[in-house]
Amino acid sequence: MADKVRVGVVGAGALANRVHYPSLAAMPDVELVAACDLVESKAASAAKSFGAGKAYTDYRAMLDEAKLDAVYVLMPPYHLFDVTMDVMARGLHVFIEKPPAVTTFQAEMLGEAAARHGVLSMVGFNRRFIPLHRLVRERLEKQGPISHCVSVFYKNSPDVAYYRGAIDYLHCDAIHAVDMLRWMGGDVESVASVTHSLGWTHENGCHAVARFASGGTGVLMTDWVTGTRLHTFEMHGRGFSAFLNPDVEARVYDAQAPQGETISTFAAAGSEEFHVYYGFFGESRHFIDCVKSGQQPETHFAEAAKSMKLVDQLYAAAI
Ligand SMILES: NC(=O)c1ccc[n+]([C@@H]2O[C@H](COP(=O)([O-])OP(=O)(O)OC[C@H]3O[C@@H](n4cnc5c(N)ncnc54)[C@H](O)[C@@H]3O)[C@@H](O)[C@H]2O)c1
Repeated sequence: MADKVRVGVVGAGALANRVHYPSLAAMPDVELVAACDLVESKAASAAKSFGAGKAYTDYRAMLDEAKLDAVYVLMPPYHLFDVTMDVMARGLHVFIEKPPAVTTFQAEMLGEAAARHGVLSMVGFNRRFIPLHRLVRERLEKQGPISHCVSVFYKNSPDVAYYRGAIDYLHCDAIHAVDMLRWMGGDVESVASVTHSLGWTHENGCHAVARFASGGTGVLMTDWVTGTRLHTFEMHGRGFSAFLNPDVEARVYDAQAPQGETISTFAAAGSEEFHVYYGFFGESRHFIDCVKSGQQPETHFAEAAKSMKLVDQLYAAAI
């Protein structure tokens, strides 16, 4: 591979412009070769703003012409499958946003195709790459295993129908909290849950306890019938505890800080820019490093499918 990883991006929507194009544009070892969107003005604007060489409206033309190493596919989950399959069929490495698919079956098929075509794949579970989370987990794991963790995601959005009802709230969005439970506690052996559909026709809350293969315990609280957005985490083990709010700070208690130590999310990230302190830059850095080294990214498609499957299990386990 040349010094620079040649990247093309399909999708120039809200999130892409806010976090992914800025992350890629800031990497000296990435050449942003092309930007593509069905809407010509969006493709042209992203290409101009972030220095992509060419704008396309037809992603197949981009894949055929642009001599890419890797492709970002950034669009709603029900548009994702065919485009991602086409990228992989051309032997190109691929990054997609969460959720990886509309169903677990689709997510697993993406994983199979990635293995069959021998490409590297990654799903943007950015919470795993929040610098504060990584710093704190690394510090705690030096002291022993995490035996109890808590993952909370609240929003005030009770009548939630993502993309006009294409996908439920837990697979689409609260999956961030589900994936983080796995990241903190490891493989889940069994779950028990309570779901609710308060004042709406479908689920808008799921609260659960999980037993990890390690013997530890996880607690999940996701609820869209609340008064605000709150997305927090806890990690505990023998002699240590951490309470994390990645929008603000973490409070850590351990032998090093028995009275507690506060670590701000900006300090952990070394930046006050949202796409940096909220993990988007870090996940892209990881993906590009993997493309350069040939190593499979942490959140490759088959791994991400496990978080989709855990969502299925949470619904199935509802009392
Ligand atoms: N990680 C996070 O915290 C987070 C936050 C918000 C959104 N997301 C995810 O990001 C993804 C994109 O969300 P968004 O809000 O930016 O969407 P968006 O609707 O603003 O943008 C999607 C873009 O893709 C384009 N598009 C669709 N099909 C295309 C095709 N075949 N070829 C070229 N362009 C095509 C559309 O024209 C649109 O501009 C979603 O999967 C969403 O779940 C993740």
